Amino acid sequence: MYVPERILTNDDLAHLMDTSDGWIRERTGIARRHVVSAGETTASMAIEASRRALQVADADPRDIDLIIVATSTPDHPMPPTACRVQDALGATQAGAFDLNAACSGFVYALAAGHQAIASGEHGQVLVVGADTLTSRLDWTDRGTAVLFGDGAGAVLLRAADGQAGVMATLLGADGSGGDVLMIPAGGSAMPLTHEALAQGLHYLRMDGRQVYRFATTALADAAEQVSRKAGWSLEEIDRVIPHQANVRIIAAAARRLGLPMERFVVNLEEYGNTSAASVPIALCEAVATGLVRPGDRLVLVGFGAGLTWASVALRWRGAPEEAVPSWYRVWWRWSIYQWARLRSRARRLARRATAALVRVAMRR
Ligand code: UT7
Repeated sequence: MYVPERILTNDDLAHLMDTSDGWIRERTGIARRHVVSAGETTASMAIEASRRALQVADADPRDIDLIIVATSTPDHPMPPTACRVQDALGATQAGAFDLNAACSGFVYALAAGHQAIASGEHGQVLVVGADTLTSRLDWTDRGTAVLFGDGAGAVLLRAADGQAGVMATLLGADGSGGDVLMIPAGGSAMPLTHEALAQGLHYLRMDGRQVYRFATTALADAAEQVSRKAGWSLEEIDRVIPHQANVRIIAAAARRLGLPMERFVVNLEEYGNTSAASVPIALCEAVATGLVRPGDRLVLVGFGAGLTWASVALRWRGAPEEAVPSWYRVWWRWSIYQWARLRSRARRLARRATAALVRVAMRR
């Protein structure tokens, strides 16, 4: 995982708008969020999280077959952010695409990555959730500005034998609810014009209460249905790792499922809602703090704009035995990243030189 160093506390926000630390904590459970500084983007966070994932997996970037970056805040409408990740990692054998399922994006991408491996088509798939939603917030709207933060999380999926890994997946959507959480302008329906900008239509808009109602049922139902698909009873789930939108949503879903709150991984106090990054960041922290152990039955659940929801039931295998790779392997990966930077520059230069030569030849 990667989160920016810069922190915005509730008190900082109270200086910007009519809100308070007390209100935000009580109504959401959020105390702080990490936000990008100048020069940091969705791609730069995704690259750093991916490098850390490759480190934990002790993997060679050139062995990755596919990179999926789940994001609704790509660096640009095109090219895909996943291609920037592919280039920076030196993942020369990988296909790369972005997936937009808003806050459900990472869990959608995990299901897609699992299917890509299960089909036998791909051996190693890098799945990343990364978002910079603070770049799409109206900092005068206290109903949304206090909720979100920035970050990225990544996992490397590999084919493996045995009773571990992804056991069941579930994807859902209800496009009739598209208007309750949306960024109206910037797409083909409403291109970015001076008028759209003046009206702030490029900012995120949300009907908080409607999303809240949807989220509590979507979270509980998606967790229950995917467990059933995996052949598990609810009691057998060791940890639920839900999208981190609001602690009250998680508590309501826990009550609905009849599970104690301790089974749910909650870290939104520190990060707020990081959209597609929230589930992999929570997973990463849960593994690091020992909340998730090898053999555990996990249910990952995403929900958000679309409306979308997704869940994955998986048996945690644990990081590879050699979780602390040798200095040689660390150095080797570092050299691949340096080589990737040079390769990228050289290819850009070569493309420009070829274009110049073609122009000269055409003139003759
Ligand atoms: O990734 C998925 C995306 N989003 C979500 O999951 C969000 C789902 N919704 C929520 O989490 C909650 O609906 C919110 C946290 C957004 C709002 O909490 P709420 O308990 O539903 O509050 P509310 O919208 O019913 O507003 C209650 C009051 C209102 O004042 P009045 O009309 O009662 O005088 C709001 O204007 O709280 C006011 N309010 C605030 N006050 C201080 C709304 N935002 C703030 C704020 N600070 N930041």
